[in-house]
Amino acid sequence: MKLIINGGKALNGEIKLQGSKNAATKMMVASLLTDEECIFENFPQIGDVEITAEFFRSIGSEININGSIAVLKTSEIKNFKVESLGRVNRIPILTLGPLLARFGKAQVPFLGGDKIGNRPVDIHLTALKALGAQIETQENSFLVSIPNGLKGAKINFRYPSVGATENAIFAAVLAKGRTTIKNAAVEPEIIDLIEMLQNMGAIIGLGTDRTIYIDGVKKLGGVRRKVMPDRNEAASFACLAAANKGNKIKIKEAIHNHLITFLNEFRRVGGEYRVENDGIIFWRSNGLSAIELETDTHPGFMTDWQQPFAILLTQADGISIIHETVYDNRFSYVKDLNFMGANIKVFSKCLGELPCRFNGEGQYHSAVISGLTPLSGKNIKVPDLRAGMAHLTAALIAQGESVIEGVEEIDRGYERIDERLKNLGADINRII
Ligand code: EPU
Repeated sequence: MKLIINGGKALNGEIKLQGSKNAATKMMVASLLTDEECIFENFPQIGDVEITAEFFRSIGSEININGSIAVLKTSEIKNFKVESLGRVNRIPILTLGPLLARFGKAQVPFLGGDKIGNRPVDIHLTALKALGAQIETQENSFLVSIPNGLKGAKINFRYPSVGATENAIFAAVLAKGRTTIKNAAVEPEIIDLIEMLQNMGAIIGLGTDRTIYIDGVKKLGGVRRKVMPDRNEAASFACLAAANKGNKIKIKEAIHNHLITFLNEFRRVGGEYRVENDGIIFWRSNGLSAIELETDTHPGFMTDWQQPFAILLTQADGISIIHETVYDNRFSYVKDLNFMGANIKVFSKCLGELPCRFNGEGQYHSAVISGLTPLSGKNIKVPDLRAGMAHLTAALIAQGESVIEGVEEIDRGYERIDERLKNLGADINRII
């Protein structure tokens, strides 16, 4: 599937955020913890949710999706083995907790997802082992059992991994006794998940210094909940608003509190915004100027925001620097941007101040962007989801025609992106 974009059009108007991909898929996993019905509103219609629904059905879930309402019910876990079904995302490993709690054993395929660097699962496995899991590594999967049941434990993460935090929470809510997770991730999607689990009957809370504590309960019940708006979409559209010369874009349902760090960098680079009751308006009046920024775990500048922000920085006057400290290989999109006229060089040295796990490891995780560079339309192929959105943003502000191939990657995380951008005035067509 391809998108043909005739770039350089003035974009303005309103765009409503979809439900968050990274919240919705985890809410689906939470629904496996109960045999009762869970109803989700504002459910995003995206590829990652379809992949997740497909394998959930194979383990026994009944799933009905009608527009933006999804109803999930897993009366019984019928199959402890999660098949990869040809397409795998990051979610199967998160089902270990629910499957173990309800079935006593589980088998999940190795992870799929984006090609954004080395993505080990050691922190997930350490947490599960602490909670009583025995893990056997097979050719393409993990086979996990709990000979003595799931038992609460004290866990101290070497790094605040989002997925490992979620995994430990899922395994601990129905475990016997208290679990404490230190150095846990506290992203808004995780806080939202904690709220949802509380509504299902869990005892779970936040302590100081990234500590999450959980007192296991015997049973969880159903829930009705709205999926939170996608803060990654918000950042993508805000960057588009400022990169495309001065037209206002109102992002409906954008939540100020989820974007605090983003908004500061946005203002530093020369973007302007106004927070309203039902969303945030983004624009720019003057030229943009170069800045340096570093990605980090929440509440830092999110790694998923750096790709759209890099497009903005190609339109800023001077030398900007991005130090990526979350993933070791998240600049794969740079080659295509340079092909379109950008001037970006990547370095393996840490060009920043934050402590970084990639220091001295040789991965290209810092970028120097020299601006301002006009971009011109080209034929490009999407390497991964967020990079794909960066390509799309670049094509929208570039002069001339771009052809973007591999749109399925963008569709994994962005709902009907072409239609929604058309409403802002984009000249964009999908070729199936
Ligand atoms: N890590 C380890 N060991 C582990 C787990 C993680 O070394 O056991 C490392 C990773 O290699 C990476 C870092 O920790 O360098 C961060 O990984 P994390 O586990 O926090 O990320 P994740 O749970 O795999 C989620 C989102 C990502 C988002 C990150 C960071 C989902 C499905 N994915 O990934 O979103 O970038 O948190 O916020 O929730 C996306 O939506 O495009 C996306 C990649």
